[in-house]
Amino acid sequence: TEQKATNVHWHEGEVTREDRNKILKQKGATLWFTGLSGSGKSTVAVALEQALAAKAKLTYRLDGDNIRLGINKNLGFSAEDRTENIRRIGEISKLFVDVGVITLSSFVSPYRADRDLVRELHEAAGMQFIEVFVDVPLDVAESRDPKGLYKKARAGEIPNFTGISDPYEEPLNAEVVLNSHEMSLEEEVNVLLALLEERGLLD
Ligand code: PPS
Repeated sequence: TEQKATNVHWHEGEVTREDRNKILKQKGATLWFTGLSGSGKSTVAVALEQALAAKAKLTYRLDGDNIRLGINKNLGFSAEDRTENIRRIGEISKLFVDVGVITLSSFVSPYRADRDLVRELHEAAGMQFIEVFVDVPLDVAESRDPKGLYKKARAGEIPNFTGISDPYEEPLNAEVVLNSHEMSLEEEVNVLLALLEERGLLD
């Protein structure tokens, strides 16, 4: 998206990200969970959040349904709207990371270019972006169908439904791939904790 406003400039404060990290005794990062509806993105983010709370790490979860009821209530599911949805969430995630929060963002985010843009936004600002592909076969997600949406999509009642009548572009270089139908929730959380440890985010 092009910047519309002219004559606007980033304003640096006197308290830096490093200062905030010292106060919080932690560093921020974004864990970006992507996958089909019903793949288990939110489930693993919720469980990871609990595990991190037990280690006294400050986290915040951003989630599809909640964001779409608030800040992104003016967006639908066309390709353009999904791109704008992800762009805004990427910026919000970045703000949380700048505060020092471990941010757990769970969105279908079906387009590779949209996810890559969020990665670039983070990396250009010296922030860690960890892409977590929650990879289950479509038939597994569809058989779970927690909200009955696949059934509606098959009946033609939801247009552009990811996996049914809209594309999902799998990540090519995700930091983590979780086959949530073949792993226990505990195993998934442990994989993520190990990576966070390795990245110096649990010190
Ligand atoms: S996206 O593609 O990243 O902008 O989508 P997201 O913001 O994550 O919202 C996905 C949730 O909205 C519900 N929903 C749909 N998903 C995909 N396609 C269509 N057309 C659609 N319509 C509604 C669905 O419940 C998704 O929630 P999750 O939690 O992923 O199941």
